[in-house]
Amino acid sequence: MRKTVLFDAEGGPDVLQLVDVEIGEPGPGEVRIDVEAIGLNRAEAMFRAGIYFERPDQFPAKLGYSASGVVERTGPGVTEFAPGDRVSTIAAFSMRDYGVYGEQAIVPASAVLRRPDGLGAAETVALWGPFLTAYGAIVDEGGVRPGDVVLITAASSSVGLAAIDVVNHIGAVPIAATRTAAKRERLLAAGAAHVIVTNEEDITARTLEITGGTGAEFVFDAVAGEGVRGLAAATAKGGTLVVYGALGGRETPFPLWFVPTMRLFNAFDLTRDPKRLRRAEHFIRAGVRAGTFRPRVDRTFDLAEVAESHRYLEANGQFGKVVVTVGG
Ligand SMILES: NC(=O)c1ccc[n+]([C@@H]2O[C@H](COP(=O)([O-])OP(=O)(O)OC[C@H]3O[C@@H](n4cnc5c(N)ncnc54)[C@H](OP(=O)(O)O)[C@@H]3O)[C@@H](O)[C@H]2O)c1
Repeated sequence: MRKTVLFDAEGGPDVLQLVDVEIGEPGPGEVRIDVEAIGLNRAEAMFRAGIYFERPDQFPAKLGYSASGVVERTGPGVTEFAPGDRVSTIAAFSMRDYGVYGEQAIVPASAVLRRPDGLGAAETVALWGPFLTAYGAIVDEGGVRPGDVVLITAASSSVGLAAIDVVNHIGAVPIAATRTAAKRERLLAAGAAHVIVTNEEDITARTLEITGGTGAEFVFDAVAGEGVRGLAAATAKGGTLVVYGALGGRETPFPLWFVPTMRLFNAFDLTRDPKRLRRAEHFIRAGVRAGTFRPRVDRTFDLAEVAESHRYLEANGQFGKVVVTVGG
C-alpha cells in the first residue's frame, strides 16, 4: 500500500485526500516510479475544481502530471528505462488515466524523461513542464528570432520564468508583466529586460513605449479573457499573439483588426509527438548545461500538506514552481 492523493468530488483544495492504495503492476508500455517530488501545475487545480478542458470521468479521481523520482519497475515491452533510472514525468497523458500525486506512480514510458545530472528532484519538476511549454510555444511553433521582443504575461509563473530564460537564451528580449509591484525586482533579477506592472501601468502603452512604437514581435499570454485586446494592440505588425493559459478567464475576444496572427498553444501537441519532444529535450538539456535554464522552485510542501499546497498555488504569491516533496 502506498500513500496516494485522490478526490471523490470536484471542488476546492479540501477535496484532496491522502489515502493508502494498492498501486498495482505496470502494464505493457508503463513504468512504476518511486516519487521524490511533485511539481504543481495550474491545470491540476483546474482539474480538481472541474474547470479544466477535461473532467474526471470516475471517482475517486487521480491527479498530477509532473513528478520526479526513480524507476522502480518496468512493464512488458519497456526497453528504454530500467529500475534505478532517475526520471521525471511530463504531461503527455490524460489525468483521467494516470496521476502522479503519491508515493508511487504508474505512467506510460512515453511520458518519462531522464533527469539531467546535477539537478535535484524538486528542480527537475520545475524544469520539464515549464521549459517544454516555453520552448514549444516560443521557439518550436513561434519561430522567435534573436532581437525579437517577447511580451510575457503572468511572468512569475513557472512557465513565465522559463519563458524569460528561453527568450534570453536565443538572444531575444523578454518583457515581463506582473499584476503588482511585489515581484518587479525579482523579475528583473530573473532576466527580464523590462517589467510592466499591469495594475499600475497600461500594458499596451508601455510595450509600445519600450519598443519605440513598434510593439512586441511575440506575445506569450497565460491570462486570456478581455486583456487580449490590449495585448493585440501591443503586438507588432507581422507579429504573433499566442494564448496558452486562462488564468484570467476563458471567454476571450478575437481582436481581428489588430493582430496578423493570434492562436492557441497546447503543450500536448509537442509532448505527444516523439520527434518534436526529442528536439525539445535536446534544447532544454543544452540550456541546462549552459547554465542559462534555471528551474525555479518557489516553495516545497510535504505530501500530507497537499491541500495546503493547492491553496498556496491558487493564492498566486508564488515566484516559480510550487513543489510537494515525498518521503525523506
Ligand atoms: N497550454 C499549455 O500547454 C500549458 C502548459 C503549461 C501551463 N499552462 C498554463 O500556463 C499558466 C501558467 O501555469 P503555471 O502552472 O506556471 O502557473 P502558476 O505558477 O500557477 O502562475 C501563477 C501566476 O500567474 C499570475 N496570475 C494568476 N492569476 C492571474 C490573473 N487572473 N491575471 C493575471 N495574472 C495572474 C500570478 O502572477 P502575478 O501575481 O505576478 O501577476 C501568479 O503568481 C496557467 O494558466 C496554465 O494553465 C498551459
